[in-house]
Amino acid sequence: MSFLRSIRSVVRFRKFELNRTKRLLRKVANVDDLRSLAKRRLPAGVFDYIDGGAEDEITLRKNVDAYRNVSFKPRVLRDMTEVDSSTHLLGRPLAFPLVLAPTGFTRIAHSEGELAVVRAADRAGIPFTLSTMATRSIEECAAVAESDSRLWFQIYTWRDRSIVENLVKRAAEAGFEAVCLTVDTAVLGRRERDVRRGFTLPPEVGPGTILDGIKNPGWTWDFLRADPIRFANVEGITSLDGSTAVDLAEHMKSQFDPGLSWSDVDWLRSIWEGPILIKGIQTVEDALIAAEVGVEAIAISNHGGRQLDGAPAPFDLLPEVVEAIQGRLEIICDGGVRRGSDIVKAVSMGAQAVMAGRPYLYALGACGERGVDHVMDLLHEGVERTMALIGAASIDELSQELISRAQ
Ligand code: GLV
Repeated sequence: MSFLRSIRSVVRFRKFELNRTKRLLRKVANVDDLRSLAKRRLPAGVFDYIDGGAEDEITLRKNVDAYRNVSFKPRVLRDMTEVDSSTHLLGRPLAFPLVLAPTGFTRIAHSEGELAVVRAADRAGIPFTLSTMATRSIEECAAVAESDSRLWFQIYTWRDRSIVENLVKRAAEAGFEAVCLTVDTAVLGRRERDVRRGFTLPPEVGPGTILDGIKNPGWTWDFLRADPIRFANVEGITSLDGSTAVDLAEHMKSQFDPGLSWSDVDWLRSIWEGPILIKGIQTVEDALIAAEVGVEAIAISNHGGRQLDGAPAPFDLLPEVVEAIQGRLEIICDGGVRRGSDIVKAVSMGAQAVMAGRPYLYALGACGERGVDHVMDLLHEGVERTMALIGAASIDELSQELISRAQ
């Protein structure tokens, strides 16, 4: 009897959540609305971990503002009956030029975590990058992915290289398409919001968090009822798998190799046959070295303003990198994207695509998987609407001539 009663209460809670989500999403007009909802639903420490950046958060703000500091030069009377935002990246099609960035610990936003994001990325027809520090494993993600899904795997280089070799081998076996080597994390940036909150991963549920839990019943219920959060890719391989709460900076310092250098790209090539993307390029000089070492793609990125405060905004750096690279590799512009029009600006300036993390994390935290579907739709529709309004019917028609640096 009591078993039946608890099933009934779970069903009732699910129904309540679904109706609440539908009601909320009807009024969500943009990524900022999802951010506000996430701020209401998530415990403050979790929200700040997702939302925050390094030190004074100057780079975090700059990443977003860079897009606001340019305008379009819209062309008219160009027959916009059909607008097609589909394109190609690493030789394969995608529905619009967006790649979902790797983000660690996604299950702190919602218990489904990366699985929800893989499914939503598949429905949207775009690639998803699974983080080394993910809370769902390579195999779990592959199991929910469609057969034509585009899964990429992000690498942090553990001091113990056999761990990376194990991960890369598993990614290949699970059908992942590309690896993404993150190079901006020799040490962890100082995220001062996390310092003030004493934030750990997974979040510790202690007396200090009980009040927060009561204020955020939806998140708390979801967190307590789900399996414990683990660094799913390394569970069983290292004892530091999230089963005890860790301070992220300490964890990275003890586990990841600050000695990573350009010669390691050759090592990566020797253990991975597919395309390699280097994520975290922040100068023209390093973009040129990446072209020399022969990787297929780079992401101009400052880790969403979470590493070096004072790093340039990727969108500001993009024109110089495009000019220097001359098509020798593909360029992804990562960070600061909040609207479809931002994606159109980056592609017009010469990027093949953009990467974004926070928009889907806000969506997941605010409304679960439906929220992620919603943000994909907002961004995709935003790309197509902007293209129609500037007179570009296809991605090939986007060019620097459609952008004005003057306000
Ligand atoms: C992990 O990559 C983070 O930015 O927190």
